[in-house]
Amino acid sequence: MTPTNLAATTTTGLDGWLAAIDRRTARVGIIGLGYVGLPLTLLFSEEKFRVTGFDIDALKVSTLNAGDSYIHRIETDHIQAAQASGFRATSDFSEITGMDAVLICVPTPLNEDHTPDMSYVVSTIESIAPHLRAGQLVVLESTTYPGTTEEIVVETINRHGAGKGVRVLRNGAAPSNELDGVMVAFSPEREDPGNMITPRREIPKVIGGVDTRATAAASTLYGSVFRKTVPMSSPAAAEMTKLLENIYRCVNIALVNELKQLCGPMGIDIWEVIEAAATKPFGFQAFYPGPGVGGHCIPVDPFYLNWKAQQFGVQAKFIELAGEVNEAMPAYVVQCAARALERNGVAIKGAKVLVLGVAYKRDVDDLRESPSLIVIEKLRQAGAQVEYNDPFFPEVGRGRHYDLHMRSTPIENLDRFDCVLILTDHSLYNYGEIVSQAKLVVDSRNATRSIDSPKIVRC
Ligand SMILES: NC(=O)c1ccc[n+]([C@@H]2O[C@H](COP(=O)([O-])OP(=O)(O)OC[C@H]3O[C@@H](n4cnc5c(N)ncnc54)[C@H](O)[C@@H]3O)[C@@H](O)[C@H]2O)c1
Repeated sequence: MTPTNLAATTTTGLDGWLAAIDRRTARVGIIGLGYVGLPLTLLFSEEKFRVTGFDIDALKVSTLNAGDSYIHRIETDHIQAAQASGFRATSDFSEITGMDAVLICVPTPLNEDHTPDMSYVVSTIESIAPHLRAGQLVVLESTTYPGTTEEIVVETINRHGAGKGVRVLRNGAAPSNELDGVMVAFSPEREDPGNMITPRREIPKVIGGVDTRATAAASTLYGSVFRKTVPMSSPAAAEMTKLLENIYRCVNIALVNELKQLCGPMGIDIWEVIEAAATKPFGFQAFYPGPGVGGHCIPVDPFYLNWKAQQFGVQAKFIELAGEVNEAMPAYVVQCAARALERNGVAIKGAKVLVLGVAYKRDVDDLRESPSLIVIEKLRQAGAQVEYNDPFFPEVGRGRHYDLHMRSTPIENLDRFDCVLILTDHSLYNYGEIVSQAKLVVDSRNATRSIDSPKIVRC
């Protein structure tokens, strides 16, 4: 190992570890350089930590090492500034030994049957465990069910470390300042992609350590980057906190999606109702309906808890119902478009439809679990000829749950389409221009709220 790979804290106790954070001599390793891990890398780099990024994706590693960005909202300048502070990406997990803190940001998707796919977390822990040493902090950031940190992270580290005397620290096993093992904690990522109002460092960092040393170490590390930390009593409580936040969103979105379907036939504008309710200064938070829910979190995370609840013999009825309502929304939007076309004397079968927006939400370059992809598939099944436009996606090929092979159509000559269907309300779109060019606009996001035209059908 070269001297640059040596961790700052190999021979010191907790006080020395905390001092290395303070002096910025501690080495931070971030595993998974995706939508969560890469911005986190940049935050630590901005605070003058020397960060090593680990990823199994060789293309991401070489792109980042060339000083380029592959995420739309992250400027190349930021990557290069991080490099100037010592950032480097690698796929060589033996370099884990040189880190003082290891933060894990790998995917936690669902299997086809809605059970947790823990394969990324498991393989990450399996890859790093042989390279861990006493005195390191390992933090899982991936969203997951309560119990994961103890059942997978701690268990795997202890299993691998047994032969070489490396184990997870627990209160009481050694004097409280001594670091004769690995500290382990859970700290969920709470970022809201596309939210330009709340800077990431302003989002308080929830932390649950396996013991008080791990909580203290993680709080000091994150406290040097985030404005506030929220220490909790255990990793499981922190894991549950993240799920509560996302289930709260999922259930409330399902509620307004259900009310939207009721308001339509009653001749009531659901968006007007939500805006009025939101004027109440307490007890109400506005959520908005749409064509369904997307992204890596809201459609996925509730099922993690649902799966765990079953192990305890508890039926999570709210979660199941919310999932059912939200998953039915793409079909509702297709039905709504079909009715609007019919009123214009056009059958859905053979109709030319331009979908606006395939990203799962406004102004993000993320397709994961996007309801637009399901709507496109359903329109095609109904016999429509579908094209799409999305400034963030020049083409859409094949992914985890879709196989479309389409290219983005320019927004021009919109009168050649029987219907323009707004599924993602990107702020780049000129909605006035779109409405004036189109024959019919079906708007599932209320993006045309300020436009009064008989061509618009809101659904
Ligand atoms: N994207 C979000 O907005 C968001 C917000 C909050 C929480 N989360 C959670 O954060 C976690 C990460 O999400 P993401 O959006 O960054 O995912 P992502 O797919 O964008 O990035 C994950 C990265 O991990 C890498 N990876 C996979 N397996 C690996 C391994 N064994 N070793 C090293 N690298 C590996 C992948 O190549 C990829 O670059 C998930 O649990 C997600 O639920 C995401």
